[in-house]
Amino acid sequence: MARKREKNSAFESDVLDGLSATPKHLPSRYFYDDKGSRLFQEIMRLPEYYLTACETEIFTHRAENIVDELLADGHEIDVVELGAGDGSKTAILLSSLLARAPSTRYLPIDISHEAMGELVRNFGERLPKLTIEPQVGDYFSILNSIRKVSKRRKAILFLGSNIGNFAAEAATEFFRSLRAVMDDGDLLFVGFDLQKDPRVIHLAYDDPAGVTAQFNLNLLERINRELNGTFRLENFLHYANYRPIEGSARSYLISREAHTVGVAGKLFEFRRWEPIHMEISQKYTVTMIEDYARNTGFRVTMNFFDDREYYCDSLWQPIAR
Ligand code: AVI
Repeated sequence: MARKREKNSAFESDVLDGLSATPKHLPSRYFYDDKGSRLFQEIMRLPEYYLTACETEIFTHRAENIVDELLADGHEIDVVELGAGDGSKTAILLSSLLARAPSTRYLPIDISHEAMGELVRNFGERLPKLTIEPQVGDYFSILNSIRKVSKRRKAILFLGSNIGNFAAEAATEFFRSLRAVMDDGDLLFVGFDLQKDPRVIHLAYDDPAGVTAQFNLNLLERINRELNGTFRLENFLHYANYRPIEGSARSYLISREAHTVGVAGKLFEFRRWEPIHMEISQKYTVTMIEDYARNTGFRVTMNFFDDREYYCDSLWQPIAR
């Protein structure tokens, strides 16, 4: 119970701050309650949401080359995955890795107990010989404790272009914090969605079936349920655009009417057509990827692309301190 209150209080203050700001915004990291996680799984299966298929293609076609790099120094490795979700792409890579290095351990980290339970069940069926040590909680403190108990080389995976949901300064801060808990021999493997035909990107965030709209609206539903909110979902429309100069897809919920909404005992006025900024999904160039690596204490060892060059999984090595 105490845990729930504590969780709600961070959620509550972030939501109240976002709705009090001009322009209004809500943090997309709160999209992932149980229903939100299910909707995201559905998004990943949409034909317009190319990201998952591209990363799966890279893992399927380039598995041997990736494994060569991961095993390059000849030592046993621990594969640590941040925000593992259901781990299905990682299973492809792990199966090639296991064939060459049977002692490989997989340490997925996620904040969701439910996602972790599902991952363990899936892997039990797909890769019964793999040693899995799932961890639920905060990435950095878990990485720090792994570092204390394991002397193996760690390959840290941060896939799915999850980094794209961070603003630029937050992404820099995130990579620097990761570098701080990594040893010089470790590796970081990061998925980046690349800049491409703007129409392709736009459709990925504005699917005709409306699943992305539901995914955004679900946060209002969550606020109603957990923070005593009075959002009427039919008062908001989902709008997504892509800005080719900044390379960012953005989504908004737009108020169709002038109206007032209550959340946690506070009232918020919406004017007609007022937006709430919900999410940023940054798209990258290879130069941006190299700049991030260099500015945060890494060098790019190798980039892996899908055939259309829509997506890049970039392998980084820490620069020795
Ligand atoms: C999790 N993240 C990388 C997704 C993205 O593409 O930004 C979340 C998402 N938002 C809308 N569709 C998918």
